[in-house]
Amino acid sequence: MKNISISLIAVLILAALPAVLSAAGLTGLITNILPYVAITVFLIGFIWRILLWGKAPVPFRIPTTCGQEKSLPWIKTNPAENPSGLPGVIARMAQEIFLFRSLFRNTDVAIVDGRPVYGSAKWLWFCGLLFHWSLLIIVLRHLRFFIEPIAPWIGALSAVDGFLEIGIPTLYLSDAAILGGLTFLFLRRVVVPQMRYISLFIDYFSLLLILGVVSTGLLMRHFSPADLNAVKTLALGWVTFSPVVPKGISAVFYIHLCFVFALLAWFPASKLMHAGGVFLSPTRNLVNDSRRQRHINPWNAPVPIHTYEEYEDEFRDKMKASGLPVEKE
Ligand code: HEM
Repeated sequence: MKNISISLIAVLILAALPAVLSAAGLTGLITNILPYVAITVFLIGFIWRILLWGKAPVPFRIPTTCGQEKSLPWIKTNPAENPSGLPGVIARMAQEIFLFRSLFRNTDVAIVDGRPVYGSAKWLWFCGLLFHWSLLIIVLRHLRFFIEPIAPWIGALSAVDGFLEIGIPTLYLSDAAILGGLTFLFLRRVVVPQMRYISLFIDYFSLLLILGVVSTGLLMRHFSPADLNAVKTLALGWVTFSPVVPKGISAVFYIHLCFVFALLAWFPASKLMHAGGVFLSPTRNLVNDSRRQRHINPWNAPVPIHTYEEYEDEFRDKMKASGLPVEKE
C-alpha cells in the first residue's frame, strides 16, 4: 500500500504544479521551457539507454525457441518460432511488437486438490494490447495540433476512431479502450495479492501518470473544453521554436501538459523503456543457427590446453609398457 500511496501523492503533486506556477506568475515555464526540457531529457535518455543496451555483447545464440528448428529437408520447420534466417526473425519480431505474441502464451497457475494446474490467461494480453494500440492511435491523432494543414490520414483516423458517433463531441473508441486497458493493468497490481507484493513505486507511478494524462484529456474533450485554436497556436509555436503564451486555455490543459512532460522525462528512467528495449532482446531477435555455425565467445581468456595427442606423445612408452592401447605406434 505504501508504494501505491507514494505514487498517488507524486501524481497529485504534479497535478497541483500548474496552479502553484500560475500563482507565482510562472505559467510561461510550462508553455515555453518545460516542453523543451522534457523532450530533451526524453531523447537523450532514450538514445543513451538504447546505445548502452546495444553495446552489450551477445556472443552466443540465445533465442527462445518454441517450434521445430530447420534441419533435414523433409522435417517441417517453424521459421517464426525458431527462425533460421532474417525473414523468420522479422516475422517473429513483428508478431511480438504488433501482437504481443509471447504475452499471448501467458499462463496462470492455480492449486487444485493440492496440485498445481496450469491454464491459459489471456486478459493481460488482451488489455495490454488494447492499451498500447489505443495509445498509439491517440498520439497519432494528436499530431493534428502540430501539423498545419492537417494531413488527411489524421482526419481519416479520427473519423474511424469516432465512427460510433456516441455523444457530442464524439467519444473516440481509443479513449474508451485505453481507459479500460489501463484500469485493468492498474487494478491487477492493486487487487491480486501476488502482484501487489512484487509491484514497486515505478510500476504504480507509470500507470497513474498515464491515467492522469488520459483522464485530463477526456475531461477536456467531454466536460471542460479547451480552446483548441489556442492549443494549436501553442503547439505550432513549439515545433517552430517560437512558442507563444496563449490566453484563455483551461487549467485542465495545463495539468494535462504537466503530466505529459513528466511522462516524457520519466520515460527513459523507467520500465517504459521496454518500448525501445523490445527491439534489442536477444532471445527474440537472434537467428537460431547454433547447429550450422559455431559461435565462439570472442573474449574467452586463452586457456592452456593439453590435447590427447600431446598426452599420448608424452606417455606413449609408459602406456605401452603397462599394456594400455595407444592410437599411434
Ligand atoms: C503522451 C502524450 C499524450 C497523451 C497520451 C494524450 C492523451 C489524450 C487523451 C486520451 C485525450 C482525450 C481525447 C482524445 O483522445 O483526443 C486528450 C485530449 C487532449 N489533449 Fe492530449 N495527450 C498527450 C499529449 C498532448 C499534448 C502534447 C497536447 C498539447 C498540444 C495535448 C492536448 C490535448 C487537448 C487540447 C485535448 C482535448 C482535445 C479535444 O477536446 O478534442 N495532449 N489527450
